[in-house]
Amino acid sequence: MCGIFAYLNYNVGRERRYVLEVLLNGLRRLEYRGYDSAGIAIDSDLTLEAQNENGKCKPYHSSSPLVFRQEGKIESLVTSVYSEVDKLDLDLEKLFLVHAGIAHTRWATHGVPAPKNSHPQSSGEFDEFLVVHNGIITNYEVLKQTLVRQGFKFESDTDTEVIPKLAKFVFDQARDGEGGVTFSQVVMEVMRQLEGAYALIFKSPHYPNELIACKRGSTLILGVNELGGETSRHLFHDVKALTANEKPKELFFSSDLCAIVEHTKNYAAIEDNEIVHIKDGSVSILRFDNEKEMPASVQRALSVLEMEVEQIKKGDFDHFMKKEIHEQPGSLTTSMRGRLKNGIVGLGGLKDHMRTIRRSRRIIFIGCGTSYHAALAARPIMEELTDVPVTMEIASDMLDRKALIFKEDTAVFVSQSGETADTLHALEYALENGALCLGVTNTVGSTLARKTHCGVHINAGCEIGVASTKAYTPQLVWDKRLTLAIGSDKLSTLAKREAIIAGLTKLPEQVRDVLKLDGEMKVLAQSLIDEQSLLMFGRGNNYATALEGALKVKEVALMHSEGMLAGEMKHGPLALVDEHLPIIVIATQDDSFSKQQSVIQQLHARKGRLIVMCSKGDASLVCPDGRSRVIEVPQVADCLQPIINIIPLQLLAYHLTVLRGYDVDQPRNLAKSVTTQ
Ligand code: AGP
Repeated sequence: MCGIFAYLNYNVGRERRYVLEVLLNGLRRLEYRGYDSAGIAIDSDLTLEAQNENGKCKPYHSSSPLVFRQEGKIESLVTSVYSEVDKLDLDLEKLFLVHAGIAHTRWATHGVPAPKNSHPQSSGEFDEFLVVHNGIITNYEVLKQTLVRQGFKFESDTDTEVIPKLAKFVFDQARDGEGGVTFSQVVMEVMRQLEGAYALIFKSPHYPNELIACKRGSTLILGVNELGGETSRHLFHDVKALTANEKPKELFFSSDLCAIVEHTKNYAAIEDNEIVHIKDGSVSILRFDNEKEMPASVQRALSVLEMEVEQIKKGDFDHFMKKEIHEQPGSLTTSMRGRLKNGIVGLGGLKDHMRTIRRSRRIIFIGCGTSYHAALAARPIMEELTDVPVTMEIASDMLDRKALIFKEDTAVFVSQSGETADTLHALEYALENGALCLGVTNTVGSTLARKTHCGVHINAGCEIGVASTKAYTPQLVWDKRLTLAIGSDKLSTLAKREAIIAGLTKLPEQVRDVLKLDGEMKVLAQSLIDEQSLLMFGRGNNYATALEGALKVKEVALMHSEGMLAGEMKHGPLALVDEHLPIIVIATQDDSFSKQQSVIQQLHARKGRLIVMCSKGDASLVCPDGRSRVIEVPQVADCLQPIINIIPLQLLAYHLTVLRGYDVDQPRNLAKSVTTQ
């Protein structure tokens, strides 16, 4: 969804062209989150626009900002920026020793995708305050009415526009009173009035070369790159060390780490109600408290980003989705590193809470989409190896029903991004009800990671494709580790536990093996490209696999697909079966195998068009007459089998999408992290 980005260079000369490229590239890195318009603001030349077309003089001495906004893809913004630059005869080689630029990708919520609704949103004439915003302002209508009464004219349909206008209102009021007002005082007053969720970056010609960012709810990252020497990490292990530090540096704000990794690995995750003020090369963080007049100053340690630039580039692959599917052996290895030594399952993030989890009245898994499926795949083994009842909740449904949740419950929230609004609202609800809340996420510094009592990072690496693939399999592995860690050490379950631990270590190699089915899946996709619909039947451990395989086909290949519980087939879906409708049946070896054999027979009896996924060597068992297409995969421990089985389905969805000519990495209407309810 929306993404914000800012770049400020200090004491290091940067040409305007360079600044533009950093901002535009920042937007390209945020592109994967989903968006429908984009915009940036940079500084013009001092001489430019001293007056507007009505002959009115600008109310500040510094250069006016230049704002570029465009609907559609980033590249159309790029084209319009450079053609505008030409028209204005702007010097792209002009060197700035300090310059503050802001940028935004917008996912339309209030108002259609259009330049006027894109960000930066402005206070009005002369762009005295400009704001980029990720989130939603819930009281914008009331604020708008008040501002209209004060003479402000609104140009957009957005909720965001009230923010820069409010900033100007606060600034004008303070200026009319005694003395001046600092940029952070203005922003603090604005925050006092805002309700909703947001991460904001402010730019103002009244405060040239300064930037302010603040947040409540949405993620905000500060990136710090000190230039000229290898000493940087030692010199500023915390943000305070950047105060009045004259060294050349580059500072970044971003909605996520993907947009800063190519510039720096030093970052700080900004907390709710914090205001970060960059001025004269120094960074100060203030904690805003509605009750208090004065904010407290905050000291924040910088963290080191464990992400490589390669993760955010396609490399030799045509699409991120394909790259990420093929990265799964590596992401599984990284995810398990250091946590599975000599058969002992270590989950440091949970150790202080293990007793409470084991004594829970029940474990409730909560998530959306693929993350929900990952949780669902955990249920069979968790029920088998622990003595704790396990229930499942789709986050939005849990909220709609106001489902019962108790303080004796452990609520496990699964979310790749850690920013999904439904999941975060469900988290708030569970916290209010006193449950122990545990987070499973792939995103360091995410809201989920910060708001849960405890949790784990799955360390799958940055996932750019909107369709989650390389985060799914580590999520499945993580579920098994949690099960092993909380499960009782009864003798009766010992053999099973040992088999799982042994199986986990071999998984990356076996996943590499299944990836060899790539070509075969392309051929299968070719045979399915004109179909209207594709069903997938699974059960037990692989019910989640059927749901997840179908979700992948739906979301990227834009083909109707349903994952179904095979046991439910005879209660309705059987009516759909004929010789045309393709049906994938997952029938790998486990306790449900004979039941799946029976399902296959019933489908055959109705001339069903079957594609059967089975364990290697089982083709004749699942398809005695050789009439069905068969996908053979390696057999692993039953609860690990979904990790293997999902790979061919991911590949199938990928090839179907390419062959049908759709956008693989950014499917229409979808966003990577869904930050609205
Ligand atoms: C996955 O392919 C989908 N894009 C979507 O279902 C996603 O899993 C869901 O929106 C939840 O996202 P999260 O894991 O970031 O919370």
